[in-house]
Amino acid sequence: MVSRGPLAIWHGLLLLLLLPLPSHGGPALRPSLPSQTTEDSPALHLSNGPGQEPVTIMTFNLTKITKISSSFEFRTWDPEGVIFYGDTNPKNDWFMLGLRDGRPEIQLRNHWAQLTVSAGPRLDDGKWHQMEVKIHGDSLLLRVDGVEVLRLRQVFGQQANNSQLIMRIALGGLLFPASDLRLPLVPALDACLRQDDWLDQQAQTSASVPTSVRSCAVESQPGIFFPPGTGAEFGLQEIPRPHVEPWAFSLDLALQLAAGSGRLLALGTPENPSWLSIHLQDQERPLLPPFAW
Ligand SMILES: *[C@@H]1O[C@H](CO)[C@@H](O)[C@H](O)[C@H]1NC(C)=O
Ligand SMILES: *[C@@H]1O[C@H](CO)[C@@H](O)[C@H](O)[C@H]1NC(C)=O
Repeated sequence: MVSRGPLAIWHGLLLLLLLPLPSHGGPALRPSLPSQTTEDSPALHLSNGPGQEPVTIMTFNLTKITKISSSFEFRTWDPEGVIFYGDTNPKNDWFMLGLRDGRPEIQLRNHWAQLTVSAGPRLDDGKWHQMEVKIHGDSLLLRVDGVEVLRLRQVFGQQANNSQLIMRIALGGLLFPASDLRLPLVPALDACLRQDDWLDQQAQTSASVPTSVRSCAVESQPGIFFPPGTGAEFGLQEIPRPHVEPWAFSLDLALQLAAGSGRLLALGTPENPSWLSIHLQDQERPLLPPFAW
């Protein structure tokens, strides 16, 4: 998987401690990212930085398609975003599977139906979930972890003409503005995808090189996901303070860099939200990941 894009990436582990001021505090390089566990086969991250673009787009020749189903495993802590989008025409023949409030949502528009429907359990629990989307006759079936959670009937039919022969599938984003959805959502989904199988490989005519800016080679744990602009709060009263002055804190941050710049994190108080801010400037070449200081 190719990692490139405008943003630096940081994984998990953010440790904030109140400590006496150290005598010297130079940056130290040391490995700190957990290694990939065996059950994590190579996975694709669905996030493409601040933009809402898909991480990859595949095209299929509809006249050659014999298998009309797609399946994959995915995991996320993010409650909202696009898993995949498919169309033959972004105006009047498209499909979207995403999450809203953590639950699967399908939006669809074609010659036979226009609908927005939500079904199934919350999936934003950081665990791997298996999903399958299948067209069977005039129906669309959605399976989650082997259980059929949705069957939409009378939503497909025989194409009356052969004018639209190419189907596009986009992962992690849309191929039109989010405002063109029937019920708009924020497309960016901080999720990992693996063991994916899209339609019929025999009919695939192209696939763009994935442009994920994040890696999935990190253990997924609660607290690892912060939607852009959000943060965690710590009550300092509950942290025992040593009886020495002056005060200081230390921060352990494990991160992996891609090209680009941006704000990595800010520390503050409710009164002064930007008390300390760490920005990354564009890196000509990535530092040896992972590192910590
Ligand atoms: C799709 O496949 C058909 C049948 O093999 C072929 O005739 C047609 O040119 C293909 N279309 C595209 C756009 O590749
Ligand atoms: C067939 O093509 C016409 C014109 O290109 C279009 O208006 C119509 O919606 C198409 N029919 C289907 C079933 O897609």
